[in-house]
Amino acid sequence: MANSTIYRKDYLPFDFDILRVHLCFDIHPEKTYVTNTMNIRSKHSSDTAHGLKLNIQDITIDKVFLNQKELHPHEYQLSEQFLEIPNCQGDFELTVQSHCHPRTNSTLMGLYESNQSLFTQCEAEGFRRITAYPDRPDVLSSFTVTIRGDKQRYPYMLSNGNLIVSRDLADGRHECVWEDPFKKPCYLFALVAGDFDVREEKYRIKSGKEVLLQVYSDKGNYDKTAWAMQSLIHAIEWDETRFNLELDLDRFMVVAVNDFNMGAMENKGLNIFNAAYALADPETATDASYADIEAVIGHEYFHNWTGNRVTCRDWFQLSLKEGLTVFRDQEFSADMMSKGLDEETAKSARAVKRIDDVSVLRTAQFAEDKGPMAHPIRPDSYEEIGNFYTVTVYEKGAEIIRMQHTLLGEAGFQKGMNIYFQRHDEQAVTCDDFVDAMDTVYREQHPGKSLERFKNWYSQAGTPTVHVRTEYDDKAQTLTLHLKQTCPPVGLETKRENWVKQPFHIPLSMGILNEQGQEILPTQVLQLTEAEQTFTFDQIASRPILSLLRDFSAPIIINYPQQTQAEKVLLALHDTNAFARYEAKHQLAAQEIIRLSQAPDSEVSPDLIHIWESNLLNPSFDANYRFVLLSLPSETGLYTMVKQIDPIAIHQAHQKTIRTLGERLKTHWQTLLANHLPTASYQPDFISAGRRALCSKALQHLMAIKDPHAIEQAIYIHEHANNMTDAFNTLALISEYGPQEVKERLLAAFYQKWKDNPLVLNKWFSLVARHADQTRIRELINDPLFTMRNPNRVRAVMGSFCTANPIAFHQSGGQGYQFWADCVVALDSINPEVAARMARIMDQWKHYVQADRMKQSLQYVQQHTHSSNVQEIVNKALNI
Ligand code: TRP
Ligand code: ZN
Repeated sequence: MANSTIYRKDYLPFDFDILRVHLCFDIHPEKTYVTNTMNIRSKHSSDTAHGLKLNIQDITIDKVFLNQKELHPHEYQLSEQFLEIPNCQGDFELTVQSHCHPRTNSTLMGLYESNQSLFTQCEAEGFRRITAYPDRPDVLSSFTVTIRGDKQRYPYMLSNGNLIVSRDLADGRHECVWEDPFKKPCYLFALVAGDFDVREEKYRIKSGKEVLLQVYSDKGNYDKTAWAMQSLIHAIEWDETRFNLELDLDRFMVVAVNDFNMGAMENKGLNIFNAAYALADPETATDASYADIEAVIGHEYFHNWTGNRVTCRDWFQLSLKEGLTVFRDQEFSADMMSKGLDEETAKSARAVKRIDDVSVLRTAQFAEDKGPMAHPIRPDSYEEIGNFYTVTVYEKGAEIIRMQHTLLGEAGFQKGMNIYFQRHDEQAVTCDDFVDAMDTVYREQHPGKSLERFKNWYSQAGTPTVHVRTEYDDKAQTLTLHLKQTCPPVGLETKRENWVKQPFHIPLSMGILNEQGQEILPTQVLQLTEAEQTFTFDQIASRPILSLLRDFSAPIIINYPQQTQAEKVLLALHDTNAFARYEAKHQLAAQEIIRLSQAPDSEVSPDLIHIWESNLLNPSFDANYRFVLLSLPSETGLYTMVKQIDPIAIHQAHQKTIRTLGERLKTHWQTLLANHLPTASYQPDFISAGRRALCSKALQHLMAIKDPHAIEQAIYIHEHANNMTDAFNTLALISEYGPQEVKERLLAAFYQKWKDNPLVLNKWFSLVARHADQTRIRELINDPLFTMRNPNRVRAVMGSFCTANPIAFHQSGGQGYQFWADCVVALDSINPEVAARMARIMDQWKHYVQADRMKQSLQYVQQHTHSSNVQEIVNKALNI
């Protein structure tokens, strides 16, 4: 069956208001009964009766009552997707009794079982798997939830809002009643039932009220929830101080679950988290996990205002809440990273966060934006909404918010946020409504101007290129800067007729240095709003060196062919903007690796070695910033920069660069290592994390050239580590560069030690997959501890093998691609959302040297899968 397409232009408001809803759950793991009573009012006058169409999916409707009178089955219509009651008018009460099967629900959408407990996931369209309801974000209602279940099995039974009744029933069952004080769309509904460890904290919000914070985790994990609780408290404080937004509930709960499709979910007052983004202690979590937990806890908490209090009118507006909330979590992390540091260090700490975020954007989003799934941050159509929780909607969406912040300044942006909440609190709105609030401020600031053209960022896909040409007149001491923007149609845009893409409003941040590396023009933001524009700068006394796109002020590509290698080196050594200094060396290194991949016999340029040497010798930067300066671009980061991707050639060139830098700067790496050996106690803070990262960077370059002392040190650090970061970094390096028998022994020991900890075991699976050959990868999915039902484990094995093991995955002959295809087919019938995500690994097939083989495996998946999720992905990949 062909998928059907939903269009943004077809939006119509719902014909009814759901005034109140009372859900009553009788929970059993095999079969849960749901009674749903809704007080409904038709929006139309009483003479025009409308049918009431409610969504359903994979549930069984048992009985329907209209105003407490049971309806005969011929009085309603039931199909696979809808329950429809004809001729509804005025005010009425509708009760639907249904049941579902949590234990056999492997989709992890709707109500499902995980480790003996029950959880829900309703965004985007999971509520219809729980009960018949208008499952769309613009229908807001007041929810009361009654849960009845076995008290021993489910001592905790949670839902949104406040607990208003808790009492025992007959037969060892008990009952809890929850009432949510805020109206909400059904995608924010949640229910959790099980036995947990609970960490509690009281928090006094700014206005004085005391609220209860709770973090729930599987029994035995109490100690691992301290960091999540601390992050939650930091997030609440941060939203109070930076955005003047307070928690609006008496009680805020966070629950960790092992089986989860994504990172976490912002259900009102009851956030549910993938355990990977909630549980941490020094022994089991890496520095990266600590940082991720802080960011995701922040993200979900910030949704309470940007997403929940003001929500989306329809799913095309997803970036309204996601782009804005990612921007907020990025700022939260940056503020946390730079808190308490002196001004210079704080700047480089913020730059490190920006560099990380930009790297995700350029690696994943730039690729998406030129592939078959390219879409504007506010898409115009979709087949399966689950496929549009993308890096474009999230990360590019955050860039579009960040540009508005850049244009308005912090104070102006906060003023715009105020207007947004004043206008739209407790409403379901559109992206235009958000920009209009910001535009109100922009027009005040810039009379006669507006953000109208800026809105093109919401309607057009693709990464714009800004072509730069300069003329310097040394007599007149003027610099003329010619800018031209281009952005050819991508994705579905290529199929649109009679349509011309419009220019974007691009804030372009820049500064100017002289040839001695001194800044002669401090940072300023140019407004590029036309297809072509010229800017002139006077009193430029000597030949200018341009530092463009400081702090990555817009999600674009700069094309500046006049810029020489020498200018880039100068910027890499002297740019006063920490991001731009990183960027210059990043571009140089990227060019260099790409060149080596095409000319494998040539040598690494002395310029690159010189920059690395100077950064190795410069102790004035903090450890994290030094770490990013000493890191080469990732291999996948280079994929969007080449016409045709040859992953194996890039891998070899990358390794060669690592070795050359190792050989040529050996004593500097040794000094760096000696100065950054593990310390006696572990702290997850940013500065200590940077020191650990530098230690492993030094080890990498030394181990790559088989330095025996470094190999011994890595083994020693691994065996004596008091934290997972050191233990795992060294294990990864030994797996890549260490002697075979040591590698086998340490990997086996790690597996034995951690086989009962699913999160640590995922690290093992992912590491083995990264270095597996065809035989080993097939063994891995037959390991007794591998399961297709746990998305984290699937991502650890498939994700790593297909995206971080170029040698085996892209091996000529296509066995790697067939492995991918077999996995997607197997997953398709278990968990279509996760299967579709894995299917996207092949999106860029056209750009690879082995395009033909990749296409064959896509066709195989097209023929052997059934879910609309996977079908949308592979059809788009093959049809564009
Ligand atoms: N709204 C969630 C977030 O960004 C993510 C989310 C969307 C999700 N759909 C999901 C999570 C499905 C799990 C499953 O924080
Ligand atoms: Zn989100």
